Amino acid sequence: SGMFTYDPGFTSTGSCGSKITYIDGDEGLLLHRGYNISELAEQSDFMEVAYLLMKGDLPNKAQKDKFVKDITNHTMVHEQLSQFYRGFRRDAHPMAICCGVVGALSAFYHDSLDIHDPHQRMVASYRLVAKMPTIAAMAYKYSVGQPFVYPRNDLSYAANFLRMMFSVPAEEYEVNPIVEKAMDRILMLHADHEQNASTSTVRLAGSSGANPFACIAAGIASLWGPSHGGANEAVINMLHEIGGKQNIPGFLSRVKDKADHTRLMGFGHRVYKNYDPRAKVMRQTCHEVLTSLGITHDPLLELAMEMEQIALKDDYFVSKKLYPNVDFYSGIIFRAIGIPTSMFTVLFAVARTVGWISQWNEMIEDPDQKIGRPRQLYNGQTERPYKPLHMRG
Ligand code: CMC
Repeated sequence: SGMFTYDPGFTSTGSCGSKITYIDGDEGLLLHRGYNISELAEQSDFMEVAYLLMKGDLPNKAQKDKFVKDITNHTMVHEQLSQFYRGFRRDAHPMAICCGVVGALSAFYHDSLDIHDPHQRMVASYRLVAKMPTIAAMAYKYSVGQPFVYPRNDLSYAANFLRMMFSVPAEEYEVNPIVEKAMDRILMLHADHEQNASTSTVRLAGSSGANPFACIAAGIASLWGPSHGGANEAVINMLHEIGGKQNIPGFLSRVKDKADHTRLMGFGHRVYKNYDPRAKVMRQTCHEVLTSLGITHDPLLELAMEMEQIALKDDYFVSKKLYPNVDFYSGIIFRAIGIPTSMFTVLFAVARTVGWISQWNEMIEDPDQKIGRPRQLYNGQTERPYKPLHMRG
């Protein structure tokens, strides 16, 4: 009963108002709180962007120092939480582990479950942003059978993560500043992207009054899919599968064949009908990082660049306005800095936690907020009489 619009995939439904992120998909423009993503990526850092998204404005020096201190105050996870990992198989995908462990945070931090108390919401938000790198690195350490590495609060957010990933008791990992900077930039580029599937999931989950840890776990689950955050991992697998430039035409004909269900991963976007501004920065960063690391020849990067050139000139992609998105080049940088493929989407989740939690807080504070409850177009059976079992053929 009542009127509603049938809009599968919500292609034309505005589900909320937001002051956080602005996208102009035709122009390829992305602003956070009014600041252009390319300026932020060039001049800012992840903690500053986190402050900007969470609090609404760039911090001054004192505010930034306090924020970093407040976040680092929460980088440890409850010691009992490390027991939780041991229940997973060693070969579990780290995204599977992260869904579970982040959801389990609601069972550890009972003191930040009152969503109507702004202070508790803030503490829960800091906890999530602070613990995500720890949880992510622990998922990796568990998979390779190495002991967990505790966070170190004198390091930057990115450097701390890298150290927790790569340090072993026998040898302290020296953080390479080029790698640290690249990691920080990738985190900035993934921090928020308005009402994408995972963010909408976080809002929808939160609209019922669910606690923030449960909501972020829901976001992680949604991000995992290959159409969304799982695409960075899928791009690398795709490039390996293609194997060489000579196989690009054959691969593209599969992509164009509707019956085949193969997509060019890292291409296309619901909102951008132009080059994704994040992909532009990512592409540039990719070249810089490989050069500074002295990697003069990466067959995967060369294959990706060739693929991009061919696709951008191909009628199929031109007519459908399909351009490279953020995931097209990020995997190549991750690979260059030694991040294993299965961790790519986890890193997306670490960065996006900032956006998710900012949007979750904005939603709770929004006077227009209501429980999310889409309608449906029922197209099943009309009413019919019940048939007893012995009469069913
Ligand atoms: N390769 C081949 N064809 C494509 C692709 C692609 N990557 N993307 C879209 N198309 C075609 C699609 O077949 C459709 O054709 P037609 O109109 O003839 O049916 C048309 O382009 C429009 O596609 P759509 O699926 O209706 O568009 P959408 O807005 O629902 O999907 C998307 C957006 C990102 C899911 C899709 O472009 C895609 O699957 N891309 C590959 C996965 C990917 O790279 N995802 C990362 C997205 S960006 C950041 C993130 O969220 O992680």
